[in-house]
Amino acid sequence: MAGNIPITTGWYFFLFSLVGACCGLLWTVFAGEGEPLIASIGFSGIAFAATYALICWVGEEFKRVGLKGNDRSKPNRPELPETMGAVCAVVYLMVMIIFIPFPFYEYFVLSTNGGGNRDITMEMVETGRILPRFPHNKLGEYLSALLSLQSMAILGIADDLFDIRWRHKVLLPAISSIPLLIMYYIDFGITNIVVPLPLQPYFGELLDLSYIYYLYMAAISIFCPNSINIYAGINGLEVEQSIAIAIFIVINDLLYISVPNHPAAASHLFSLYFLLPFLGVSVALWCHNKYPSKVFVGDTYCYFAGMTFAVVGILGHFSKTLLLLFIPQIFNFLYSAPQIFHLVPCPRHRLPHFNAKTNRMEPSRATFDKPPRRIISLALTILETVGLIKLWRNEQSGEIEEFSNMTLINLWLVRGGPKNEGRLTRELFWLQMFCGAVGLLARHKAALLVFPYDNLRMEDFEGLAAAAVEAVEAVV
Ligand code: UD1
Ligand code: MG
Repeated sequence: MAGNIPITTGWYFFLFSLVGACCGLLWTVFAGEGEPLIASIGFSGIAFAATYALICWVGEEFKRVGLKGNDRSKPNRPELPETMGAVCAVVYLMVMIIFIPFPFYEYFVLSTNGGGNRDITMEMVETGRILPRFPHNKLGEYLSALLSLQSMAILGIADDLFDIRWRHKVLLPAISSIPLLIMYYIDFGITNIVVPLPLQPYFGELLDLSYIYYLYMAAISIFCPNSINIYAGINGLEVEQSIAIAIFIVINDLLYISVPNHPAAASHLFSLYFLLPFLGVSVALWCHNKYPSKVFVGDTYCYFAGMTFAVVGILGHFSKTLLLLFIPQIFNFLYSAPQIFHLVPCPRHRLPHFNAKTNRMEPSRATFDKPPRRIISLALTILETVGLIKLWRNEQSGEIEEFSNMTLINLWLVRGGPKNEGRLTRELFWLQMFCGAVGLLARHKAALLVFPYDNLRMEDFEGLAAAAVEAVEAVV
């Protein structure tokens, strides 16, 4: 259709070659032992190609049904298709559904060929029937994760269609997380946390948080999607931050998988099965959403990406590590809190202001309708003194009239001065990568200063397991 994004011959060639190579990879999986990780890589490549092409083909259709937005940071504010995250979510969910048999392939083979020397997975039941020891719990985890992601995608699309109010949409992910939490309760149910060394004299080595742990996990599922959504507004940032976070989770997963016979390897493989196709669809979206954007991602993508992280963090049992990869988002949320909770004015859009004369982005401003209360003025002045905000005052009375919107993007501009949108996105991507590297190092190196164990090392894992057994024995 006219107006759609054209796919160049070079891209057609690349996409066909990629799909061919990935099909070849899948063929080796069928011919061999059914290695699920190789299959996942193959499916991720296909997901990339499908998402890339679909975004090119459906963009105009999305605009026709009203899913569009103006790029506010370009001279003529071009109208672009929005909600392309829906394309990613649909391709991703399709791929994840087709992938379902692969992680369970070895169990199918055993149950059909009658066993042979693989009787290790066979189990005698009381009736005398021989049944395969099928990991129903793992399948349950997988399906509950899909259910959560699916409902999140639907709620995201609803938000893009109807622009749901903030106070409502903040809680939507909590509903989507219910299947996850139920599965966590049934399958794992551990609500103990390791207490940092300085606090161990008061709380012991392990502390049982009980239902508070479930509230914490629900909070993670609310935080991840929303924190990505509010750290947005310049071309490519939503996707780039998600890709950076996914890369670091993948690195963390590989660290565990590379330790022979590590007890947590299965959880981290599970995480990889969800993240590799996610990277596939996200990189394809990024090709179209990077500066200068040809499409927008919509809230659907932010919710879907955040929920993917919450799913792997919760079901992979590394939700605390996950938070270490969200440092810019946590900062942005805390910094935004006064505006989000309406202690100070919060305009509908807080993205930076585009100065058409200089072609640069500048901090955008929020305006007080009436002079702020003394306590608010004082707080803002303190922030100004430490360089965390820019204020504009009335020349006569000295009252604060305007302040730079409280987002990390605006703060970056307050500190670093106006800059071109492409450069701004690039700098914030590298900030995300830097924080991710620091977070991961902190998790596996600095954490040993305050925690007795790093469960990546087998000997520490054994120490942790012994502590857990001790804690259970003490209760019994
Ligand atoms: C969140 C932010 C809002 C920010 C918006 C930008 C909070 C509380 N809300 O709102 O301040 O302005 O995201 O995504 O922090 N847009 C661009 N260029 C871009 C990306 C988006 O101009 O690179 C504009 C487009 O007009 C697009 C719109 O932002 O249509 C998308 O806004 P939407 O996702 O609906 O905003 P919210 O998520 O509600
Ligand atoms: Mg948004």
